[in-house]
Amino acid sequence: MHHVTGTDGWRSRALAVMPVGSSTNSKAPTMLPDEPEVIVGGRGGRVWDDRGREFIDFRCALGPVTLGYADPRVDAAISAQLEHGILFGHPHPLETTTAELFCSLVPGAEAARFLKTGGEALAAVIRIARAHTGRDRVVQIGYNGWLNSLAAGARVLPGSTTTFVPGVPQALAQLHHAVDWDDRDTLDALFADHGSEVAVILVAADYPSIPEAADFYRHLRELADRHGALLAYDEMVTGFRVAVGGMAQSTGVVPDLAVYGKGIANGMPLSVYCGRREVLAVLDRGEVVVTSTYGGETLSLAAATATMTIMRDEDVPGRLRDLGAYLQDGLNALFVRAGLAIRLVGHPACPQFVGEGAVIDRFLRASFAEGLSLYRVVYVNAAHTDADLVDALDRAGRACEAIRG
Ligand SMILES: Cc1ncc(COP(=O)(O)O)c(C=O)c1O
Repeated sequence: MHHVTGTDGWRSRALAVMPVGSSTNSKAPTMLPDEPEVIVGGRGGRVWDDRGREFIDFRCALGPVTLGYADPRVDAAISAQLEHGILFGHPHPLETTTAELFCSLVPGAEAARFLKTGGEALAAVIRIARAHTGRDRVVQIGYNGWLNSLAAGARVLPGSTTTFVPGVPQALAQLHHAVDWDDRDTLDALFADHGSEVAVILVAADYPSIPEAADFYRHLRELADRHGALLAYDEMVTGFRVAVGGMAQSTGVVPDLAVYGKGIANGMPLSVYCGRREVLAVLDRGEVVVTSTYGGETLSLAAATATMTIMRDEDVPGRLRDLGAYLQDGLNALFVRAGLAIRLVGHPACPQFVGEGAVIDRFLRASFAEGLSLYRVVYVNAAHTDADLVDALDRAGRACEAIRG
């Protein structure tokens, strides 16, 4: 399977020294030689591989790149901070000002604190929720990062589940309950059996269902309130993309706790856990310790402040929606015309391919061959130009032609 192609053989070199050949499973190429083995640079909406091939890119680092690769405004903020140092032995003012800005933009964020990845921020939320409620069980809907792939049936990666979790003690796995999106019967049964033991319902939006998600969120809010559980949102993908305030803003249903990341800093590593002050008070009281050397790292905070300011002042989520809708509608029209039983479904800023997996894979591979880099979820960024989109649809049209024959 791991055949080497291209002149440099980065894939085989990576596999020799690194399990999976990539630190991020979903980024490891599976469609060589059409797919890039490595990406060496990017600007705006385009990226380049080691062989000098240019791709119009709708992977956007799997979500984080919201403004565009090498955005000059964000990069200037990073460079300016770099001159003064990266990390210190005391808090830096940016930690407070970034938290102030974040809390002013996100519904339900009375207070916020920083970490680096979504996985650890979600682990923090689970710990806080357990301490606040004095309960042990966690209900998980959707993928919440590798640290939280604890329950049998939970998503171990975006889009894949397991019935057995090697490496997780049974006693711990039994306290985590994975529930499918909008599976109200399973939720009802679970709460009938264990309602008084559930600390938190943790939900990540199902991509194809985002436009109609409000009713399910209302249901979850009501269920949590009725049973004295907390409601927490995983806004890693939806925050600063579907809306600045993610599903909390777009549905109007406010959670007790939430996690943000990805789109907040245009690619710099920063995650946020936030929510009701009364719940987060377990941290102030020292009952729960969540702490990390790099939480207040200033380059990422500077990038986040720049990104959030631009998002707020320029309605970036509105632009992502408009650009995304043009691409989504254009691609779906091509699929109809080519007689391919695949579609892009969901919110235009992060629609997901649905349909026969083999056909989706053939289309993705043919797209790579045409210089179009797509993923199961299609992420636009605000630097994609109208010309990029027209060009992308051209290339996608040729990819459809190529696989039809
Ligand atoms: C919905 C969701 N939650 C959590 C995560 C985990 O975030 P991280 O990879 O930063 O740990 C991801 C990452 O793909 C995600 O898509």
